Amino acid sequence: MNHLSVKPLRAGVVGMGIGRHHARAYQDLKDTELVAICDVNADRLEQIGALFPNVARYSDYHALFAEAGLDLVSVAVPNILHAEITIAALEAGLHVVCEKPLAVDVAAAEAIVQAAERARGKLTVCYDKRYRADAQWLRRAVASSTLGDIYHVEAGWKRETGIPGGWFVQKAMSGGGPLIDLGVHVLDIALWVLGFPAVKTVSGVTRAVFGPAGRKTWGTKTGDGSRYEVEDGAVGMLRLEGNVPMLLEASWADHRRPGEDDMYFRFSGSKAAAVVHVRNYTQEDTLRLYTEIDGIAVEATPRLHPPDPSGHAGLLADFVRAIRMDDAPPAPASQGLATVRVLDAFYRSAATGREVALE
Ligand SMILES: NC(=O)c1ccc[n+]([C@@H]2O[C@H](COP(=O)([O-])OP(=O)(O)OC[C@H]3O[C@@H](n4cnc5c(N)ncnc54)[C@H](O)[C@@H]3O)[C@@H](O)[C@H]2O)c1
Repeated sequence: MNHLSVKPLRAGVVGMGIGRHHARAYQDLKDTELVAICDVNADRLEQIGALFPNVARYSDYHALFAEAGLDLVSVAVPNILHAEITIAALEAGLHVVCEKPLAVDVAAAEAIVQAAERARGKLTVCYDKRYRADAQWLRRAVASSTLGDIYHVEAGWKRETGIPGGWFVQKAMSGGGPLIDLGVHVLDIALWVLGFPAVKTVSGVTRAVFGPAGRKTWGTKTGDGSRYEVEDGAVGMLRLEGNVPMLLEASWADHRRPGEDDMYFRFSGSKAAAVVHVRNYTQEDTLRLYTEIDGIAVEATPRLHPPDPSGHAGLLADFVRAIRMDDAPPAPASQGLATVRVLDAFYRSAATGREVALE
C-alpha cells in the first residue's frame, strides 16, 4: 500500500464528553481527518466546537451519518444509546468505535454483534486501557508462559471519592454503577490478558452506602437532582475455565486513601506472579514481579515505557491500522459482549444472593 496516495479516513464523533478526546486523537493521527462532531446539547456543541475550528457541527446523528461523508465514527454517548447509534452507524456503512460498555444489557450487546456481522464497516469497543504499557506487558507475559500456569487472578478499580452525577447514576441510562463503568475496563483487561477464557460462574455483591446519601460525589456533575439508583461498590468472584478464581472489585466511593482512584491486577502463576498497581492513572512504576530464584523469593521491577500513542489515541491508531490492513479490529463486538454477559450475571447474582452460572 502506498500511504502517500491514500487519503486520510474522514472521522466524526458523536457525544462531546469523553468524545472530545476521540476528536483530538483524530486530529492528531496522521491517517485520520476530523471532519465533524455531534452533540444534542447545543451549549456543549458550541463550547467544544470552538476547540475544533473548521470542523462541521451536527445536533442530530442521522444527519451526521447521511451528510458528512464519514468513513469512521466514534460513539461516545450515555450507555443506553450505544446500541441505537452504533447500529445506525454500521447500517450507514461506517467503521465504528463504540465507547465502553458495549451496551447496557445482553440483548442490546447481541444486537450490536449481529449488526457488526452484517456490516461492511468494522467495529471496535473503546477499551483504551489495553494500550497501557503494563497491560500490554501482562498480555505478553501470559501468552509466553513467563508466569507459568495461572491459578489466581484479581482485577479492580477503586475510587475513594468519585461518584459521577447525571445519567451515570440513573440505572435505565447507565445499566449500573462503578461495576459497569470502571469494572468493565479491568474485567476486559483480565479476560484479554488471559485470552478470553470461558467464565463459568459469577457470584457478586453490590452496595450503595454513599451515593443515596449524596456523599463522596464528584464536583460539578453532582447536585443536579438526579435520583441515585445504582451501586457505589461491587465485590465478586468469577470462576474461570480450569477452575481459576478471579476476584473483581469496583467502587466509586469507599473509605480509602484520600483521592485514591486506583486500578490493580494480580495474575498468579506457577512460575511467577505479576502485580500491577496504577495509582491515579500514573503510567510509571506500576508493575512488580514476584518469583523464586534458587528457592529464594525475589521481587523484580520491570521498567516499562508507555506506548506511543497510548490510551484513546493508541486504540484509535490501532483501529485505523486494522481498517487499512483489513485485519480484525482490536476489540471486536464479541469481546464487548463477553464482558456484558459477565456484568449481567454479576448484577443478577447480587440481586438474588446466589451464584449465577453462565452458558
Ligand atoms: N474509555 C474511557 O476511559 C471512558 C471515559 C469516560 C466515559 N466513557 C464512556 O463514554 C460514554 C460517554 O461518557 P461521558 O463521560 O462522555 O458522558 P457525558 O455525559 O459527559 O457526555 C455524553 C455526551 O453525549 C451527548 N449526547 C446524549 N445523547 C446524544 C445523542 N442522541 N446524540 C448526540 N449526542 C448525545 C450529551 O449531550 C453529552 O454531551 C459512556 O458510555 C462512558 O461509559 C469512557
